[in-house]
Amino acid sequence: TSTKFGSQTVSKVGMVLKFQGCQCDNSPMNLEKNVPLQPYNTFGIAAKAQALVRVRDESDLRAVLADPHLSTLPRQVLGGGSNIVLTGDVKALVLKIEVPGLRLANETEKHWIIEAGAGENWHDLVAWTLDQGYPGLENMALIPGTVGASPVQNIGAYGVELQDRFESLDAMDLFTGEVFSLNAAQCGFSYRDSVFKHASGGPDDLGLAGRAVIVRVRFALPKRWKPELGYADLERKMQDTGIHTPDARQIFDWICAIRRAKLPDPAVIGNAGSFFKNPTVTPEQCADIIARDPKVVHYHLDDGRIKLAAGWLIDACGWKGKTVGHAGVYDKQALVLVNKGGRDNPCTGGEVMTLAKAIQTSVYERFGILLEPEPVVI
Ligand code: EPU
Repeated sequence: TSTKFGSQTVSKVGMVLKFQGCQCDNSPMNLEKNVPLQPYNTFGIAAKAQALVRVRDESDLRAVLADPHLSTLPRQVLGGGSNIVLTGDVKALVLKIEVPGLRLANETEKHWIIEAGAGENWHDLVAWTLDQGYPGLENMALIPGTVGASPVQNIGAYGVELQDRFESLDAMDLFTGEVFSLNAAQCGFSYRDSVFKHASGGPDDLGLAGRAVIVRVRFALPKRWKPELGYADLERKMQDTGIHTPDARQIFDWICAIRRAKLPDPAVIGNAGSFFKNPTVTPEQCADIIARDPKVVHYHLDDGRIKLAAGWLIDACGWKGKTVGHAGVYDKQALVLVNKGGRDNPCTGGEVMTLAKAIQTSVYERFGILLEPEPVVI
């Protein structure tokens, strides 16, 4: 009878529990159950994955697709966990991407082609390329997260975006199990956006969210390197130090210092970097805001639109240092939401989202602009 009872329970609660009953203990891949995710998200939110597979190469993904129980589960890809807010335990099968590897894959007349496994730490890649004598990624030093996540939101900082240094990537199609490569145009990069952020409605749909898992990324680093120094923070460093022709290593050191002074180190204070995107507005909308708030920080874009500093808008609404439960607005950069409870008393994802919504409402009421969150809410 117990077997019967067991199978009845399974059929009632469906897929996820059936999986927990674990007909898959003999599965060849590295499957773990009830895995604490606190160490795997930079906010330090406490939540668990019911099931997690560590993906070290394509064969681990193929094993998931070949497993009759695992292949039917919803999936959640996890990189460095630096751009997510966990609002509860994750019921989907977590694919934790740990593909290793850093190498010079090729060189052309103009570029070094560097290939990195999706599981490599982004900052370690930046440091490694400089150690090897391949400059070009230095402005993006200290961005938290993994290499595999970098194309997803087209990371960028201090005047350089991933798309400026990107060559191609390899990804696996979770519908078909095929590995395919994409060039920059095929990735559809724009400001903090790519095809990997857009849902796939079907086989002909261009969106690849939920469909493709990035396993390797290649970067084209210029042999005739030129420094990118067009940011006020970097100009200030040049003035302060008197160094007007910095090399890539010098810029790397400056960027690390600038970020450490302004942004919280996730190892010390949990956070997911900028919580909102910088909004763009028409010149008319901007003129309207300037008429009311002459100090609004804004930048003219090449296409005629104007980018506003979301951090300034939030700051102007008086949010620095404000909290909801253990979630708070960082007191040195209003664009960053932080976990004020540390590891022992962490904020919840619900507190982070309540705070985020309150910020959106107040910025909307004052400026008529709806801020768009940057991290993925799970
Ligand atoms: N500002 C304020 N108050 C604040 C925060 C900012 O007045 O509380 C003002 C600053 O004084 C400055 C302007 O807003 O004049 C812009 O601030 P900052 O230079 O710090 O850059 P940001 O626009 O807030 C963006 C990226 C960062 C990236 C930096 C440097 C986005 C959403 N954020 O921040 O990226 O490091 O520029 O390039 O585009 C990330 O995406 O996680 C991230 C950290």
